Amino acid sequence: KKIVMSGIRPTGFLHLGNYFGALRNYVRMQDEFECYFMVADLHSLTTHPDTKELKENVHRVLSENIACGLDPDKAALFCQSHVYETSELYLYLNMLAYTGELERTVTFKDKARQHPDNINAGLLTYPVLQAADIILHRASLVPVGKDQEQHLEMARNFANRFNHRYDEIFPEPHAFNYGSDLVKVPSLDGKGKMSKSENQMATVYLSDSDDLIIKKVKKALSDSGPTEPNSAKPDYIENLFLLLKLFSSEETLQKYESAYNDCSIKYGHLKEELWTDMIRFISPIREKAESIREDKAYLKEVMEKGAAKARASAQATMSLVREAMGLNYY
Ligand code: TYM
Repeated sequence: KKIVMSGIRPTGFLHLGNYFGALRNYVRMQDEFECYFMVADLHSLTTHPDTKELKENVHRVLSENIACGLDPDKAALFCQSHVYETSELYLYLNMLAYTGELERTVTFKDKARQHPDNINAGLLTYPVLQAADIILHRASLVPVGKDQEQHLEMARNFANRFNHRYDEIFPEPHAFNYGSDLVKVPSLDGKGKMSKSENQMATVYLSDSDDLIIKKVKKALSDSGPTEPNSAKPDYIENLFLLLKLFSSEETLQKYESAYNDCSIKYGHLKEELWTDMIRFISPIREKAESIREDKAYLKEVMEKGAAKARASAQATMSLVREAMGLNYY
């Protein structure tokens, strides 16, 4: 069985990007593969050193994972900081990572720009920690969104470097999405992707109330429609169609495609169908997540069981790693 690993940072509410980039794949993969899914709490410390809300956020992310259909009896669902072996492998991989390549990482440059007063070494070595998370389980499939492509390329490089320097222990990890191309869910303001922290009115969260979803979709950037038949769509209209494709039926999509092409489209109607279908999808997840979040005893049980599974896999890998590196003195 192939091994699957992925993670989500507890830095805010989960949104449609997290669902379509990551969670949707998790739920399918848990029936096919050996899966390790985690809450990346250590990664969140690189940008969120204040831990006052961390516990609440970890509980929320776990609850939302389960509410989306992840089954802790099928996949290991755990917290990164509970698997101490991660930190040891991270240390070894740091000696195989070059500062130049780390400084060139797009996410490092972005985050350094956003937090100029806290460009810490953990932020620089973020991709090394992510590589450790993945190869610690000798995983080869990593379900993630498009924004993680470069991190996966770096994880492959670190794994290959270890294999060449010491011994062939690690399979090459690859980003994965059912349906091949990695997903990027666009934000509703036509600028970039949905994200946990940026423009919250342009991101739809799995915890949003029905009213808030309607308000956000109503505000999504559109215009008065095309004036020439069969013209190219501007990016922000392309985004609305992309969302429609994720939520609505093929029939609905085709109806608006033809209306676009013959210039009869009314974006008000398209938006109404979009928010209706979004609400139908999100409201049961929201309600389920809320009730799981209140059951602290259950969450503790999930975390303990997940950590035990993940640590067993991590310990097996780490004895191979120490052996390969010659760190076995008796
Ligand atoms: P994070 O917490 O930013 O995002 C979690 C997952 O959601 C995906 N995602 C998106 N996909 C499509 N469209 C979007 N708008 C969108 N926004 C977010 C992300 O690609 C990701 O799959 N570094 C990782 C966490 C991590 C990890 C790992 C992932 C730590 N260790 C090991 C995989 C394997 C991150 O910050 O994800």
